[in-house]
Amino acid sequence: MSEIREFIKKLPKAELHLHIEGSLEPELMFKLSERNKVEIPFKTVEEIRAAYEFDNLQSFLDIYYAGAAVLIKEQDFYDLTWEYLERCKEDNVIHTEIFFDPQTHTDRGISFNTAINGIHNALKDGEEKLGITSKLILCFLRHLDEDAAFKTLEEAQPHLDKFVAVGLDSSEVGHPPSKFEKVFAKAREMGLLTVAHAGEEGPPEYIWEALDLLKVSRIDHGVRSLEDEKLVDRLVKEKIPLTVCPLSNIKLCVFADMKDHNYKSLLDKGLVATINSDDPAYFGGYMNQNFIETAEALNLSKEELALSSKNAFNASFISKELKEKYCSLVDQVLK
Ligand code: HPA
Ligand code: ZN
Repeated sequence: MSEIREFIKKLPKAELHLHIEGSLEPELMFKLSERNKVEIPFKTVEEIRAAYEFDNLQSFLDIYYAGAAVLIKEQDFYDLTWEYLERCKEDNVIHTEIFFDPQTHTDRGISFNTAINGIHNALKDGEEKLGITSKLILCFLRHLDEDAAFKTLEEAQPHLDKFVAVGLDSSEVGHPPSKFEKVFAKAREMGLLTVAHAGEEGPPEYIWEALDLLKVSRIDHGVRSLEDEKLVDRLVKEKIPLTVCPLSNIKLCVFADMKDHNYKSLLDKGLVATINSDDPAYFGGYMNQNFIETAEALNLSKEELALSSKNAFNASFISKELKEKYCSLVDQVLK
């Protein structure tokens, strides 16, 4: 194994941008479709994988929402989350902050409780049995209206102890952050933190809105920030982290090739950039694969990879003490 791959394997990592529904591997999709007697339009695991060719975000989302239809019972959400945590263990991801999309499930008659309890119980077991710490983030689907988001936030009320923040995902263009200003204000009043997908396919203006109107602690993706110098200055000055997802960006044609990715430029400009997997079952790899392909295409140094990892721990929603502990583990590997 090359020296850089060896280093990535050993590097303790935090993941801050992972949709749990996007970690549904074709094998589990097949198993759940049989277990729950839910038909899917594929006969084999290979057929499912072959369907994963995307032109843009929407072409992916259509398949991603269809795949989620096999998730019915609390145990299904548990199994989904547990399999993801096992991948974390393999990749030396020691902390993870995962998104879930309640509306993807409640809109097809699955209760909010079923989804959150299955995910929460797996995260609890992950901490006890695998030593992986975690946080959960509730995402609103931005292609739906703000009233639907308010209804979801109401359903989440009895579970406030199970998640730390709200986020915003799904089809970006045409659904600016401003559409959700009121529901995010309500979430903040309830003591929740906020994050939002912005500047993946959408323009830099959406990143400004996420900062000014939704008061986000982090920007998910944010790669289009480099088109706006004033925005970059602000993101650097306020140390706003970007949760970048390199393999996702290639699969969804945000960049034509990994060699064209702007990840190194983000670091060079002093932005708090991090590497994440987004929807690893659909985009060709978990955390180590994202680190490896980015490092090899852009010639990232060990120092830049360690910085990416420390950026993620520092950008996470854990205590100052735990951040220091995790960052010192990174420093030990670097030495
Ligand atoms: N962007 C927006 N919505 C999403 C994504 C993404 O990359 N993955 C899952 N939902
Ligand atoms: Zn995402």
